[in-house]
Amino acid sequence: MIDLHCHILPGIDDGASDLTESLALLQLAVADGITRMVATPHINPGYFDNTQASIHQALTLLRTALNEQKLAISIAAAAEIRVTADLMPAFESGQLPILGHWQQQQVLLLEFPHSHIPPGSDKLVKWLSQRGVIPMIAHPERNRDVQNDPKILAPLIRAGCLFQLTASSLLGDLGSRHQDCARVLLEQRLFTVMATDSHNVLRRPPRLATARAEVSRLTDESYAHALVQGNPQVISASLDFSAA
Ligand SMILES: [Fe+2]
Repeated sequence: MIDLHCHILPGIDDGASDLTESLALLQLAVADGITRMVATPHINPGYFDNTQASIHQALTLLRTALNEQKLAISIAAAAEIRVTADLMPAFESGQLPILGHWQQQQVLLLEFPHSHIPPGSDKLVKWLSQRGVIPMIAHPERNRDVQNDPKILAPLIRAGCLFQLTASSLLGDLGSRHQDCARVLLEQRLFTVMATDSHNVLRRPPRLATARAEVSRLTDESYAHALVQGNPQVISASLDFSAA
């Protein structure tokens, strides 16, 4: 399986706090059947001021440690980008790492606030699509507005967004509202990808295998395969997973 959303890079956001925790997360991922991970640290101005440079530096550090451990997993890096007023200028100056490609377009992993979908989001999506970018919306099932009325996603669906399901939402680890919403959206086959959004060993570990089985039970085996293998592989094919 391939995980396109996780916070495994050491010390640059609210994920792994240091190299030891990063390696522990990678060990858990290997045990779960994950063979590739794309680290997606937060870019959220004023909270997590990550840049292409800070992300690359942390990736290099982790890759060096990973090589010494000889774990059977390879890693690349992108980012989870908060939707703020800074997003458009940051994109135009080339500061936003892409998650890969989908249908000849670049993919950016975008995060909304958990409370609501900011007004004008569909305009932002159109602005990006005019520049050859498809947004992938991280875990819409965790958004309170979406939980109250999934139809609120309609303009984003029409605008061509992709959507990423978080495995722990579907498994109920984040509460029943997240789980119920995840099931509703899953039955609509809204999602293109399921990922761990793992942050730490204890509360938010990397777990995909159990959630994959749950997707298969609720929909079918080929959709489960697409969410954790087929589609993530296509999207991340242009990323660099090579060793340090
Ligand atoms: Fe995340």
